[in-house]
Amino acid sequence: MTEHEISRDVVVIGAGAAGLTAANELRKAGLSVAVLEARDRVGGRLWTDVIDGATLEIGGQWVSPDQDALKQTIAELGLETFSRYRDGDSVYVGPDGRSRRFTGEMFPVAPETEAVIAEITERLDAMVAEIDTDRPWEHPNAAEWDSVSWDAWLHRQTDDDEAIRNLAFATGSAMLTKPTHAFSLLQSLLMAASAGSYSNLVDADFILDKRVVGGLQQVPLLLAERLGDDVRLNQPVHRLEWSDSGVVAHTDDIAVRARFAILAHAPVLYSRIAFQPPLPRRQHQLHQHLSMGFVIKVHAVYDRPFWREQGLSGTAFSPYELVHEAYDNTNHADERGTLVGFVSDRNADGVFELSAEERRARILESLSHYYGAEAKDPVVYYESDWGSEEWTRGAYAASFDLGGLHRYGADLRAAVGPIHFACSDMAGAGYQHVDGAIRMGRLVAETIVDESRS
Ligand code: FDA
Repeated sequence: MTEHEISRDVVVIGAGAAGLTAANELRKAGLSVAVLEARDRVGGRLWTDVIDGATLEIGGQWVSPDQDALKQTIAELGLETFSRYRDGDSVYVGPDGRSRRFTGEMFPVAPETEAVIAEITERLDAMVAEIDTDRPWEHPNAAEWDSVSWDAWLHRQTDDDEAIRNLAFATGSAMLTKPTHAFSLLQSLLMAASAGSYSNLVDADFILDKRVVGGLQQVPLLLAERLGDDVRLNQPVHRLEWSDSGVVAHTDDIAVRARFAILAHAPVLYSRIAFQPPLPRRQHQLHQHLSMGFVIKVHAVYDRPFWREQGLSGTAFSPYELVHEAYDNTNHADERGTLVGFVSDRNADGVFELSAEERRARILESLSHYYGAEAKDPVVYYESDWGSEEWTRGAYAASFDLGGLHRYGADLRAAVGPIHFACSDMAGAGYQHVDGAIRMGRLVAETIVDESRS
C-alpha cells in the first residue's frame, strides 16, 4: 500500500478523551492537527454500544463532583447528566456468606472491626492530604511508602482480616484492579489523593455520582465531530521518526509530518511503535514498570429493576464475593433495570479459565447473593473484556509496580524532543479517570502552544 503524506503542526496518536481534548485545544490556539486512531471508532476506553437491544456503557461512565475538567467538557458539549439510583438499602456480604442490608456509609461489621476501619481511614486521610497528586514522589516519605506493598502496610496496621479486606478493596479491586501485593502504599495514596481523599474514594455516592444521558462516549464523539476529517480511523501508528525539528508518524496508509507528536494512549502501548531513533534509555526503562490492571465489567439487564421493589438501592459489595461490587446501572428513562458488577484481577483471571456458560453462571450466582434468585435470569447479559482489546489491554488503566512511582514517576509526563505524552494513566487529579485524561490533554496542548510560540 502507498503512504500519502500530509503536514500538520501536531500529530495526535489516539482518539480517546486525552487526544481529542488536546487536538481541540490546539485547534482553538490556531494550530493544525491530525488525529490518528488505531480503532474503527473514537473514544478508546469510552464506548457506549447497543448489545442485544440494550444500551450499555462498555467502558467508563461515572462522573464525580470533583471532576471539574470532565464536568466542564460535558456542559460545554451540551450534554445532560443524571444521578445513579441510590434510594433504599445497600447490601454487604460478610465472611459468613450472609447478606446484610444497611443504610449510610458504614456497612454492618462487628463494632471492633468498625472501630479499626474508622481509625485506619482517619490515618489514611491524613496521609493522603499530604500528597501532591502531580508530584507524589516528592513527599518526604515517598521512597519508604513506595517500597511497601499496600497489602503489607495494611497488615502492619491491624490483624483484623475483615477490616483489612475492606480497606484494601477501595484502591485494590475497585480502582487499580491489581492484587494488593502488586502495588505500593504510595500508589494507593495517589489513587485516593486523585479523588480528594481516601474517604471520597470509598464513598460510592461521591465517586459514582452521575452519568451522561445517552452515554459518556458522546464526549469523544462530539469532540471528534468538531475536528471533522482531521480524525482518521483505522490508522494504527507503527513508526515514528523524530528529531529536534519534528516528527513523521507512519500508518500503513498515511505519513503525517508535524512539528510535534502527542502519544495519547495507554503507556503500555508505546512499545507498539517503532521509534526512529529509539526513545532514550530512561523511557525504555520506565515504560516497563507500568502495567494495566484487569477487571471485567458485567452488565445484566432485566425487564424491570426488581431489586427496587424489595427496597434495595442496588449498591452492593463484598470482599468475599466474586462480584466484589455492583450497582443499579439503569439507563435514564429506561423501564428496564440494569445491574452492573465488577470482577477484578485474580478473580477475573480465574473466571476466564471457565467456559463462557460457566463464567456467566458463576457471576450471576454471585449477583444473586446480593439481590436474590431473580438476578440469575437477565434478559441481556454482557461482559466488557478490555483485556482482549488489542489497543487497550486491560482495565481500567495503568499503574506502576512496587517502587516504580517513586523511581520513575517524575519522568512519565516529560516530553522527549518533539514527542509529548498525554493519558489518564499519568494524571494527578482524575488519575485513571476521564477527568484526568481531559486534564492531561489540556496540559499537553498548553505546553505545545507555548513551545510553538517561543
Ligand atoms: P484511551 O485508552 O481511552 O484512548 C487511547 C486511544 O489511542 C484509543 O482509542 C486507542 O485505540 C488509541 N491507540 C492506541 N495505540 C495507538 C496507535 N499506535 N496508533 C493509533 N491509535 C492508538 N473513568 C471514569 O472517569 N469513570 C468511570 O466510570 C470509568 N469506568 C471505566 C470502566 C472501564 C471498563 C474502563 C476500561 C475504564 C473506565 N474508566 C472510567 C477509565 C476511563 O475510561 C479512562 O481513564 C479514559 O477513558 C482514558 O482516556 P485516554 O484518552 O487517556 O486513553
